[in-house]
Amino acid sequence: MRQIEKTTEQLIAAHQPGYALDRRFYVDPEIYALEIDRIIMRNWIVAGHQSELREPGDFKILRVANESAIIVRGSDNELRAFANVCRHRGSVVCLKNKGSTSKFRCPYHGWTYDIDGNLTAARNMPAEFDRSKFGLVQVSVQTLHGLILVCFCNDPPSTVDARREMAAPMAMFGFENLKVAAFKEYSIAANWKLAIENYMECYHCATAHPDYAKMHTLMLDDVKREKLQERMRQRMNACGLRDLFINGFNARAEPGQLGYSYSRTALFKGYKTGSRDGAPVAPLLGELTDYDGGASDLAIGPFSFFLAYSDHVVCYVFVPVDMDHCRCDIYWLVRDDAREGSDYNVDELTWLWDITTKADKEIIMNNGRGVRSRFYEPGQLSDMESSERSYIEWVLEQLGR
Ligand code: FES
Ligand SMILES: [Fe+2]
Repeated sequence: MRQIEKTTEQLIAAHQPGYALDRRFYVDPEIYALEIDRIIMRNWIVAGHQSELREPGDFKILRVANESAIIVRGSDNELRAFANVCRHRGSVVCLKNKGSTSKFRCPYHGWTYDIDGNLTAARNMPAEFDRSKFGLVQVSVQTLHGLILVCFCNDPPSTVDARREMAAPMAMFGFENLKVAAFKEYSIAANWKLAIENYMECYHCATAHPDYAKMHTLMLDDVKREKLQERMRQRMNACGLRDLFINGFNARAEPGQLGYSYSRTALFKGYKTGSRDGAPVAPLLGELTDYDGGASDLAIGPFSFFLAYSDHVVCYVFVPVDMDHCRCDIYWLVRDDAREGSDYNVDELTWLWDITTKADKEIIMNNGRGVRSRFYEPGQLSDMESSERSYIEWVLEQLGR
């Protein structure tokens, strides 16, 4: 006999700490609608790097769930973001993903907006029509140490703490002066939480990622890894790196503040960076003078994560598309003055995280199919899934507010 369904509040209260989420968190449209309101639209999401929009009129589009933002450098050189929705009858205005323009012309009836969002042309409107009242609606946008952040609400979390606390580690890698050497979108037919949960744990790395597991040490136990950590720490200073550990991620952030975190983990001996043979794939970043044999994990808000090797940064942004689909946008960042061909080669630069993300996509989609089954019951998490555990607890906390 069918049980009477729990309310969302009861479901949140019934969550057993240290266990996976109930299937309803992956398949219930009501819960997804709540996530849209309380998590997805309320948080900053990385939309790329400022170097992508250097000149007035340079623009790019960020799509998140049902929303789309035009991010554009204005005539005064400031970055702005606008809802990509026409003020006439609501068509999407900009259909291109990126480019450079002097105006945005709606494809439906031709209303035209300048790069600062003002409506500059609308044909055959009544005499009393006041164009100045129908500019594009602004969406929150900021840059944080070179990264473009977008939030689809008017009172986004403050970035003051993140900006201050992350200044030192991000300066080491010269985040302000990076550029996008490569970008790929990976469409994943699974709920967005499954993709981030997968990113948060390395319990699966040994089984799913043989190449990654050759160089990264996250799946080692603490005692074994500590030896390698110590060797890396001894080299750090001479390489221009400071030994930092920062944890203000999600649940640990002050209320109303954007979450952030930083830590560095040793690679296996012989690996200077995350590449096919461990050899450098781009010039050293920022303030670095040599390879310490480590890679840093950074998080900025709940959707955006980074792996900073000594010579390149990989940025992973997990974007909800709908309840059953999400996207992983990956940016490979190198020094702004690095030259393609002589200083780096895109195939070599992207090799590791392209194969790793394709493998992740498969396992996430398998997981998505499984949790839809009536036979799925939340299982117990391993000791290697503690970050995933705190992530899902943070999600529940947001939903329960
Ligand atoms: S909907 Fe854009 S001009 Fe009509
Ligand atoms: Fe993975």
